[in-house]
Amino acid sequence: MLRLVLRCDARFNHGGCRVNKGPFIFLGAFASLALSWLGLVLGPQLQFGGEQPQKIEDLNVVYPAARNGLAQQGAEVYRALGCQHCHSQQVRQEGLEFGAKLTAPGETPAKLAAALVKLGLAQDVAGANAQLAKLPLTLGADVELSHAEFLVRTVKDADDKAKAEITFKNLGADLGRGWGVRMSTASDYLFDQPVLAGSARVGPDLANVGVRAPEKYSAPWKFTSTNTFAEFRAWQLRHLAEPRAVAPGSTMPAYRFLFDQRAEGKVPKHDAEALVAYLFSLRQDVPLPNAPLPRVASVKPAATNAPAATNTPAK
Ligand code: HEC
Repeated sequence: MLRLVLRCDARFNHGGCRVNKGPFIFLGAFASLALSWLGLVLGPQLQFGGEQPQKIEDLNVVYPAARNGLAQQGAEVYRALGCQHCHSQQVRQEGLEFGAKLTAPGETPAKLAAALVKLGLAQDVAGANAQLAKLPLTLGADVELSHAEFLVRTVKDADDKAKAEITFKNLGADLGRGWGVRMSTASDYLFDQPVLAGSARVGPDLANVGVRAPEKYSAPWKFTSTNTFAEFRAWQLRHLAEPRAVAPGSTMPAYRFLFDQRAEGKVPKHDAEALVAYLFSLRQDVPLPNAPLPRVASVKPAATNAPAATNTPAK
């Protein structure tokens, strides 16, 4: 071993031995490549490699589902036109905020009223009864999970037929802008090849553009489950052809070449239709075990539902 590393020769400057660094350089390079392979390939593969569409019991659907053919073509158009250089498709979440609410009284309202007084939610029994007359009642908002559990337990101890539950809200700047109702997870991209998560946000995040209320294409974005494809398509085509016509001051380029200029006006080409079908398919609003949808206490005002100062198109 020593002979491998040390080479002694009188011809060297100082007449001594020189360390043969070759093996060390080889081992060092090997180790750093092996480490990055572990971190960048093996780690993610172990973490996400087994992801499969999952059955969402509440909704009786399998999520995610593959896109239809036209939307799949649209993904290629989106990628070819480089939309991902200005738009991300990833909603970040920074945490959860817990609360508790009482939705129905049980069989012993007197005990329940006493519990409310004990919790400081009413001054006296009369006040508590008044509160109980107009349920749901927020027992606590913006508290630690353990405190929310304590509130629910106190109510249940007083009256175990009363219906009280822990509420939670997903927190984060992206959610505050209305870009999503929960964070994006690996499963959301199961059918994306490649994943077009994007890296810059010159324009708004598009992870949920398919469930954005058509009349609210401005911050704070609003969700809708009543979006009709016809309305969506009309807005998107107008926007693609001339962004500034619907969003004054927009810096998004006009994609006029996606339309044929005919006597009857602009007619969308196949690519434009595919792109719109793809945009409509973008939605991450199914509750997942690791990314549940918020269960919100009824009277809590949406404190974070204000548009963020940045990334807000001028409209
Ligand atoms: C140079 C950056 C840029 C590029 C490239 C770009 N966009 Fe945009 N996009 C923006 C900006 C800025 C806005 C916000 C103003 C507006 O609504 O026009 C926006 C808004 C949007 C909106 C409206 C979102 C909403 O809910 O308000 C959609 C949809 C959209 N872009 C889709 C696309 C598609 C599809 C492409 C590719 C064909 C694309 N964008 C390319 C910058 C860009």
